[in-house]
Amino acid sequence: MILDVYEAVTSRRAVRGFTDRHVPREVLERVLSAAAWSPSGSNLQPWHAYVLTGAPLAELKKRALERVAAGAPGDEREYETYPPALKSPYRERRFAFGRERYGELGIAREDWAARQRAAAANWDCFGAPAALFCYIDRELGRPQWADVGMYLQTVMLLLRAEGLHSCPQMAWSVYRRTVAEILSPPEGLILFCGMSIGFEDVTVGCARTGRAPLEETVTFVEGSVLRSHAA
Ligand SMILES: Cc1cc2nc3c(=O)[nH]c(=O)nc-3n(C[C@H](O)[C@H](O)[C@H](O)COP(=O)(O)O)c2cc1C
Repeated sequence: MILDVYEAVTSRRAVRGFTDRHVPREVLERVLSAAAWSPSGSNLQPWHAYVLTGAPLAELKKRALERVAAGAPGDEREYETYPPALKSPYRERRFAFGRERYGELGIAREDWAARQRAAAANWDCFGAPAALFCYIDRELGRPQWADVGMYLQTVMLLLRAEGLHSCPQMAWSVYRRTVAEILSPPEGLILFCGMSIGFEDVTVGCARTGRAPLEETVTFVEGSVLRSHAA
């Protein structure tokens, strides 16, 4: 599937409904081999990716869903997913996301139990037959976390080129010990996020998320200011 980069970027979205169609190992290898060309400061390549399919993924889903069903608390957090008090404009954007996400499922804002049930689909990887778990070394800093983000976006865009979809999931950091039981990562790694991978189940509804207008997030600095300084 030949996909223009713009098409890859704009057709990527967090898909939350997958078919059980098998994702071939060679496709995943092709994607991850190309994604290795992602940039990173001083070429540290700070990503540690684990790819799970078949019985190990089924076992992980089973164990995570058992924890949810038992009402077990999440594992102690290794990083803060969001600041406790989100300031404007992020608070409003998060609110708008919740409204879009749960609105499409017909769940009211105050219906916490229904929201939790919808969120539980995370532990089934939304039905996806493949998942990637991305770790980063505990000793690395913010620039390396940014490198990992670039890597993950590259993976997601390449998946589009293969006709596949994805959903990045920080939710998995909540059950990171269960993930570790299956993956046995070396000491010293922090689980940043999971990522469901597969073919989209087009029968599952999906509202496209919006974006802030360009002026809110981008500032063009142009004109003659610098030139007049240089003169
Ligand atoms: C680092 C990261 C973690 C995310 N974690 C979750 C998650 O745990 N569960 C989920 O359903 N979506 C998750 N998302 C998806 C976001 O909600 C989604 O990217 C955002 O709302 C924009 O929508 P779009 O990706 O469909 O364009 C995550 C996205 C990122 C980048």
